[in-house]
Amino acid sequence: MKKLTDNSSQLNRRKFVSTFGLLGLAGLLPKTGDAKLLPDTTGSILKTGPYLQTPLQDSITIRWITQVPCYSWVEYGEQKDKLDKKAHTSDHGLVAANNTIHAITIDGLQPARTYYYRICSKKIENFQPYKLVYGDTFTSEVYTFATLGQTDKEVSFLIFNDIHDRPESFPHLMQYAGNEKNDFVFLNGDMFNYQVDEQQLVTNLLDPLGKLFSTNTPFILSRGNHETRGKFARQLMDYFNSDRQNYYFSFQCGAMYAIVLDSGEDKPDETEVYAGIVDFDRYRIQQAEWLKKEVQKKEFKKAKYKVVFSHIPLYYSGEWHGTMHCREVWGNILNEAKIDVLISGHTHKYGIHDPVKGQHNYPIVIGGGPLDGKRTITKVKITQHAFQLSMLDDSGKEVGALKI
Ligand SMILES: [Fe+2]
Repeated sequence: MKKLTDNSSQLNRRKFVSTFGLLGLAGLLPKTGDAKLLPDTTGSILKTGPYLQTPLQDSITIRWITQVPCYSWVEYGEQKDKLDKKAHTSDHGLVAANNTIHAITIDGLQPARTYYYRICSKKIENFQPYKLVYGDTFTSEVYTFATLGQTDKEVSFLIFNDIHDRPESFPHLMQYAGNEKNDFVFLNGDMFNYQVDEQQLVTNLLDPLGKLFSTNTPFILSRGNHETRGKFARQLMDYFNSDRQNYYFSFQCGAMYAIVLDSGEDKPDETEVYAGIVDFDRYRIQQAEWLKKEVQKKEFKKAKYKVVFSHIPLYYSGEWHGTMHCREVWGNILNEAKIDVLISGHTHKYGIHDPVKGQHNYPIVIGGGPLDGKRTITKVKITQHAFQLSMLDDSGKEVGALKI
């Protein structure tokens, strides 16, 4: 999960998160109960969030965006009325501050456990070299997060794909999600048409998901080809995942070992509209090298269910370059690794395709979207003995099911 490539963006640098008790920061943080910790009733500090990212068995990342530069931290604990731990991010000796995009990864957590937390952001009014003036502090209400479970735990999650800047699809499809508590929600690419700016992320994704679940249930963003487009595509990573996670990564949850691949663009890198500034062939080959090592890990081999996510499916999505190159560089590795299922989107035509020996020795699940009548929500539940997937259309009718 370590980043393989360097990225100059601020939040992608390796960071160290300090976790400390309330006493450890006397003098730096306002005390709980301090008048300055009252909620930001003016609405002038918080822009969106919190939203949970990168759920793991021993850690989670809490993100939010403020409207003004702040110093931010998280208070958390195992009891709602006892948030006795605090965490902030520090990097090269400097605590993250005077920023608006906040990401705090909390480590050292216990698996399958629920924690309570709230976010705090203290406005920086004036940042002089030898005098820093703080303003009001925003303190959120108390929310919960839960760490992922080890192999003996059940796993439940939802999948959305190909929403394409139609935020109203989220609440519409969520009405069919059922009452199951989900470990996470997986966004399998193309949440947007192309990246414009931060406000697009807030309006079309972060605010709608915040209203539905993301303050208490993490989402995992897997990049689709459309997320690689537009002038803001290169800033996307500042807002998602933890700073330790690439767009391709693996994680374990219950009996599932999940591998997330980033299938990149769908046309050749030389295509005129890409203007010479994409490099996806090399990137997919780089992922193939990583994938070869990943499937040799003993945790992968031992896992009961090996689940792979890739926005572009290796089959059933035409013969454009993206599909064919994913197939060329990843196909054999996935077959030989005996994966149980590939879960994709991209084609806008939902379907569950049986294994075809010699091509893909595993079923391929493709979610639909983005138009009315083509949208889907997919529910997955994994126990020690069964992988069960159910795909529903936007009338709530089951349009696909898979049991392994
Ligand atoms: Fe799409």
